[in-house]
Amino acid sequence: MTDALAVKVSGSVPAGATAVGEFAFSDRLGHITGIRKPAAERMGFTGKPGSTLVLNDGEQVRVVLGLGPESAAGAPEVRSAVAAFTRAVSKHRRVALVAPELSIAGEVVAAAAAESALLANYAYTDLFSDDEAGPRLASLTICTGGDLRSVRSEVALAVSTAEAVYFARDLVNEPGGSLTPQRFSELAAQRAEAAGLSVEVLDSEEIEAQRLGGILAVNAGSANPPRLVKLTYEPDPSTVDPDVEVETVCLVGKGITFDSGGLSIKPAESMVGMKMDMGGAAAVIAAMCALPALNVPVRVVSFTPMTDNMTGPDAQRPGDVYTARNGTTVEVLNTDAEGRLVLGEALVLASEEEPAAIVDLATLTGACMVALGDRIAGLMSNDGQLEQRIRDAAEAAGERVWPLPLPEDYAELLESDIADVKNIGTRYGGALTAGLFLSRFVEDGIPWAHLDIAGPGMTSPVDGVKTKGGTGFGVRTLCRMLRNWGTD
Ligand code: BES
Ligand code: MN
Ligand code: ZN
Repeated sequence: MTDALAVKVSGSVPAGATAVGEFAFSDRLGHITGIRKPAAERMGFTGKPGSTLVLNDGEQVRVVLGLGPESAAGAPEVRSAVAAFTRAVSKHRRVALVAPELSIAGEVVAAAAAESALLANYAYTDLFSDDEAGPRLASLTICTGGDLRSVRSEVALAVSTAEAVYFARDLVNEPGGSLTPQRFSELAAQRAEAAGLSVEVLDSEEIEAQRLGGILAVNAGSANPPRLVKLTYEPDPSTVDPDVEVETVCLVGKGITFDSGGLSIKPAESMVGMKMDMGGAAAVIAAMCALPALNVPVRVVSFTPMTDNMTGPDAQRPGDVYTARNGTTVEVLNTDAEGRLVLGEALVLASEEEPAAIVDLATLTGACMVALGDRIAGLMSNDGQLEQRIRDAAEAAGERVWPLPLPEDYAELLESDIADVKNIGTRYGGALTAGLFLSRFVEDGIPWAHLDIAGPGMTSPVDGVKTKGGTGFGVRTLCRMLRNWGTD
């Protein structure tokens, strides 16, 4: 598993740092110590977010990091500047950053810097036979004024969140033939127990006994038995108001460890990358494991069904019908629309907890990528307040989500000739019909939101805080939403 770099907070630049990052505003280039604006511009440095200027005096490398115009510089600009810094100094071991003074709180700036450096420094190297990816940053000191104690505690939360993103990325990057449902559930259970969560792992017999028909239907073509992991986080009693009943939030994540499409098999090119079809479950599990460190004030229960979607001799056939735990009969006309089958069962289990809200994350549809591209997740919800909470959390966390509708009249597209519902709609609006399918498994009256992360959860050009392979998308939004729960 990938180790994070050590982040320290200090009032001054440590002597051991071989590279130091400092910030400059595009409209105040002349204020950069020692460099005048014309000189900076001759070196091609504009001061835009993400642009860097490397100055080497032989002793210590100085990297000037653009933040754009001063009045607009906030956490997103700090994140992209620090990600660029981390890449520019990746050959160094010990580096320092002189935090800029912005209109937002110093703690927020330092936390954004720490998180961004960690995320950009990630690399999945487990499977190289030698240390091919090379040495990466080992330590970063954030130099800042103000109250170091409160900066340190905010930075510690950012580090916990980034470590959760590492865990999710490691899980997503592991090949599908190696991360079987059994191994996935073991890694999840191990980490969750170490974090102090209660863990329940359902094997195939228990999945059958619980009548989770959608999981069994998808698993039928597989040589690997399915799993369903349930994790429970209870807030520390000292952090909650004893007079107010603690709410429960449920999280659900799609854990398809490999999606071949089943008998409705995918073309070869579309199948590449389908080891990442468990990105929703990975994000949910990783976020759960961070909740104790984040001291989240609400009870959280997660359900992550795990199976691959294969073509074995007993695979479900297009046209087969299964019965879900809530009694709904489903005609499966396309076995490649499998995520909604396993999620449906998890949503039924989540509803039985009578939670204040359910949030699911799933690499669910190519259609969502057609609509929003590969950097923005689709957000569908039956509840305005929950939708706003998620949008606010995502924005604060630096992840991009955008609302899509759940049009009631489109539900007729899912009408089956022989069962209660079929698992695909028509050619158009595929992200919405997938969302509408899921809504049939959420108990009436429970606020629910669905994040289709097919784009941002699976693809990733190296860009900003994203690294090659799995992104861990959703971890930061979930952590932020749960940290804020009850205070928003
Ligand atoms: N895992 C895929 C969705 C996906 C596609 C994620 C591309 C990332 C990139 C999902 O199981 C799937 O195959 N969905 C089908 C649904 C269709 C058959 C209704 C799709 O999007 O094509
Ligand atoms: Mn599929
Ligand atoms: Zn899938």
